[in-house]
Amino acid sequence: MITPRIPRPNIHQFDFIVIGSGVAGLFAALHLAERGRVAVITKDALTESNTEYAQGGIAVALGEEDSPEDHARDTLEAGAGLCSPEAVEILTREGPGAVEELMRLGMRFDREGGELVRGREAAHGRRRILHASGDETGHEVVRSLSRRAQVHPSITVFEHTWMTDLLVVEGRCVGCDAMVHGEEERVRFVSSAIILASGGLGQIYAVTTNPLVTTGDGMAAAWRAGCRLMDMEFIQFHPTALYHEGSPKFLISEAVRGEGAVLRNGAGDRFMPSHHPLGDLAPRDVVARAVFAEMRSDGRDFVELDFSSIPLERFLSRFPGIVGELRRRGFDIYSERIPVAPAAHYAMAGIASDLQCRTDLPGLLAIGECACIGLHGANRLASNSILEGLVFGVRAAQLAPTLPRLSYEELGVAAELAPPPVRVGAPAIRPELQRLMQQCAGMERNEEDLREAREQVATWARGIATVPAASREEAEAANMVTIARLALEAALTRTESRGAHYRLDFPAADEAWRRHLTLRADEAGEPVVGFTSVEAPAE
Ligand code: SIN
Repeated sequence: MITPRIPRPNIHQFDFIVIGSGVAGLFAALHLAERGRVAVITKDALTESNTEYAQGGIAVALGEEDSPEDHARDTLEAGAGLCSPEAVEILTREGPGAVEELMRLGMRFDREGGELVRGREAAHGRRRILHASGDETGHEVVRSLSRRAQVHPSITVFEHTWMTDLLVVEGRCVGCDAMVHGEEERVRFVSSAIILASGGLGQIYAVTTNPLVTTGDGMAAAWRAGCRLMDMEFIQFHPTALYHEGSPKFLISEAVRGEGAVLRNGAGDRFMPSHHPLGDLAPRDVVARAVFAEMRSDGRDFVELDFSSIPLERFLSRFPGIVGELRRRGFDIYSERIPVAPAAHYAMAGIASDLQCRTDLPGLLAIGECACIGLHGANRLASNSILEGLVFGVRAAQLAPTLPRLSYEELGVAAELAPPPVRVGAPAIRPELQRLMQQCAGMERNEEDLREAREQVATWARGIATVPAASREEAEAANMVTIARLALEAALTRTESRGAHYRLDFPAADEAWRRHLTLRADEAGEPVVGFTSVEAPAE
């Protein structure tokens, strides 16, 4: 591939730009590195992302007793009627090959007698979750991929470098502007193919399992650049985050219930069997709502997770990360039940993208949690997200080299473009916004609360200023306001309950609503609602 040079010190030109360094971004980058020079831009350390904290594992149909069809059936069932069947088919069919490749790249899954160990998690019809170091799967994924990326001669990693905006020239994405932590000067990255893999938005909630970096930056930038966002009302709450002070909340993996732990209410009674035939292994949205209901009826801020049915030796060896963290926090795992409560965990929401990872903006692809291809529907099946990052990371890497190359003239225009101003909000908005979203757009919503929150967020949105340079915190605050506003808009518009979106004023699912809701910015930047079908979500 011939790469023309642009002699400007603060301009980097690459064949491919990957924004974000979770599993999707790193896997895509390693594939793209076989085809050209890749920049990986990440706003914190290379290893800091949602992937790093994933405990449960990777759901994948490997071996003769399982099949992609069975995995697909469970995924569709959990997704509450809103999964794109084609996306699910791709995930489950291409998943085994992607996981085998991950192993070739150095991923060490847990084995017994040489055989891969398979765990069970909620709503899976069988044991199919591969895990590593017991409950440190995400850490092992990041370890194996980041090491390779760091030493690959075709990959340059830009850490602590946060994107301020995507660059658009004549309706095409040609790169992005960024700032480096602690530096005043803007940096420009120019390329024919930009892959957004910037992760989720959990930080718009006060109670979340997501690390501090998950502020929806990629979604907000794509929105400003004219892309549609989709399914913004569907934000998944994990039922069992450890109940403790501080943020983010420590996750207690669903794999614990897969091994036999059960939930108990204030009276010490099991309650899941009365909520769903699968009991403690019901789909995540069902368990989270049941936990919430029990908390309310008990007048407590948590329920309890009882590990006593898991033999101690097994518990210690299977969940070393959880055991270690509980001990550090002073819990006696031998005699206590552990207090847990739901926490915002995963965005089914994201940038509307097709099965090739194309967004509405030519030149811009989106993968992983920042993208929405309709794969997870209204409620993601446990441990499908790392698999999504792998499968669609490969797909993006296959498509990117086929995108039209920028001409010398276009590269020149991209290089000379005046830097778009940085949008900033006051960092003090962040905790207020988190509290508001938790209160008004959490696990249960209603029109009055959503309207009130939308009004407040719109006021903050009017206060967003544009400046030549800014801190990461200021830019994150603006992105969080943008994303929260869109999540509220979508939640208000969908007048039914489905999966993770539960409206107290519309408690039933409505067949007429079995479609995706999209939002697009009008000329004034106001959201315009659209709809697309479950079968062809991004069209
Ligand atoms: C968990 O380990 O319970 C989380 C897995 C996931 O979010 O898929």
